Amino acid sequence: MPAVLVPCLQLGQPAKATARSTDKAPIMLKHRHQATHNLGRNLVFLVYENTLLKMVRYAQVVHMETPDIETSPSCGSLQNTAPGRHWLWEYRQGGRTDATNNLTREDRVTRGNSLRAATEEHTSSRRTVAAEHRVSDCRQRGTAKMSPPRKVCIVGSGNWGSAIAKIVGENAAKLDHFDKTVKMWVFEETVNGRKLTEIINTEHENLKYLPGHKLPPNVVAVPDLLEAAAGADILVFVVPHQFIGKLCDQLKSHVKKDCIGVSLIKGVDEGPEGLKLISNIIRERLGIEMSVLMGANIANEVADEKFCETTIGSKNKEHGKILKELLQTLNFRITVVEEADTVEICGALKNIVAVGAGFCDGLGFGDNTKAAVIRLGLMEMIAFAKLFCKGPVTSATFLESCGVADLITTCYGGRNRKVAEAFAKTGKSIEELEREMLNGQKLQGPQTSAELNHILKSKNLVNKFPLFTAVYQICYEGRPVTEFIKCLQNHPEHL
Ligand SMILES: NC(=O)c1ccc[n+]([C@@H]2O[C@H](COP(=O)([O-])OP(=O)(O)OC[C@H]3O[C@@H](n4cnc5c(N)ncnc54)[C@H](O)[C@@H]3O)[C@@H](O)[C@H]2O)c1
Repeated sequence: MPAVLVPCLQLGQPAKATARSTDKAPIMLKHRHQATHNLGRNLVFLVYENTLLKMVRYAQVVHMETPDIETSPSCGSLQNTAPGRHWLWEYRQGGRTDATNNLTREDRVTRGNSLRAATEEHTSSRRTVAAEHRVSDCRQRGTAKMSPPRKVCIVGSGNWGSAIAKIVGENAAKLDHFDKTVKMWVFEETVNGRKLTEIINTEHENLKYLPGHKLPPNVVAVPDLLEAAAGADILVFVVPHQFIGKLCDQLKSHVKKDCIGVSLIKGVDEGPEGLKLISNIIRERLGIEMSVLMGANIANEVADEKFCETTIGSKNKEHGKILKELLQTLNFRITVVEEADTVEICGALKNIVAVGAGFCDGLGFGDNTKAAVIRLGLMEMIAFAKLFCKGPVTSATFLESCGVADLITTCYGGRNRKVAEAFAKTGKSIEELEREMLNGQKLQGPQTSAELNHILKSKNLVNKFPLFTAVYQICYEGRPVTEFIKCLQNHPEHL
């Protein structure tokens, strides 16, 4: 990706806008200026004051060795900021006199220091004004009363759990309204003869599920679930969906009533009344409000800080805002939508489609076939969501990161596709491959297809969802994988 594109994506600006702003200035400077145009006043001050202070120090050093600052490389940079221009103008007024007066080295140092002090004073007074603006803004919105910082607990510490802990830990460390310590519940295991919690708390790395990535030191691994969640104001649920029921039973009546819950779990459950969203299970058992976060987010890439987007589904606007603040970074951009059920169902169903995509890869089909699997899978996802979600289901939500973007990334990368490809190539069972290939990680696609199939059978709707059904039959009922393509050839979309 061209260097110019990433900053414009991070700022949510169309690529054109940044490209058009190009001139002869060096590329980093262009970004800085584009950023200052696009962001609020406070950030403009921060960018200016940072730049200016660096330039003043640089100019000071260069100037000691260079008779005329206007011939030094810092001059052009100084002209690029408003305070810089002012400073330069001041310098020029005195500079000519200095040159004629042949200032000594000490004089130059003294002058440089006083200029730097003046600049620091100038920018810090601007910072104070900006801070006052923020406080008065908060007062107007009625949020200025000092509430204690919110305590965050992450329930889960697998591949995605650890990647998200990295983000949450870094954000909590720098944002005042979150408690600095982030507790992470870890299902205790022995790794290389040591407890996983001990490894995380001493080496700040989850050697089993996210090796090669340091976690911030304020993320504390706790093996006891109740101890980890004690006093939490925000609970982030991120475990494979098969474990959530038991964990909720343990947590029941041990969480704050006004605790904000967010589920990052992709999957569904089926009970006597049919389909159950994971967020509903948590909401019912713990009695807390729940939001969800789903998107095109392969954990290792997020941990690598490669740019991506995600979607928060929250029926409570205030909760959506708080969660966005806790979880967003420059390279993990969040859109909040109200259609939480649609967001969640997308996250579960795309894993079934990814298994189908993996079968095609294993059988040697090409990109056209994969595109067809993605499109037909999307049609089944939309149809299923419309039938089973209680709230509104609009096409717009499928265009968010949780919809089509997550579907594409999972059908090209991700463990479901990978294991399904090996299944088609080797003939080994899904369970065997999960054990061999995933080092303790769990597959979601096959199990979700089984849960869905049960619901579809009970409603006599199996024929309307041939792709979902074929994935289930191939994984669990011994249908030959070579027949997968038949479900595409006879899809109701073409009739
Ligand atoms: N990994 C990704 O790229 C990714 C991205 C987005 C969403 N998700 C979703 O996040 C959820 C969690 O996935 P993950 O990747 O963090 O986990 P994982 O599959 O990498 O790891 C498995 C986790 O389950 C824990 N575990 C094992 N046995 C357990 C038990 N009996 N009880 C409780 N926990 C047990 C392990 O300690 C480990 O933390 C899943 O729903 C997944 O679909 C994953």
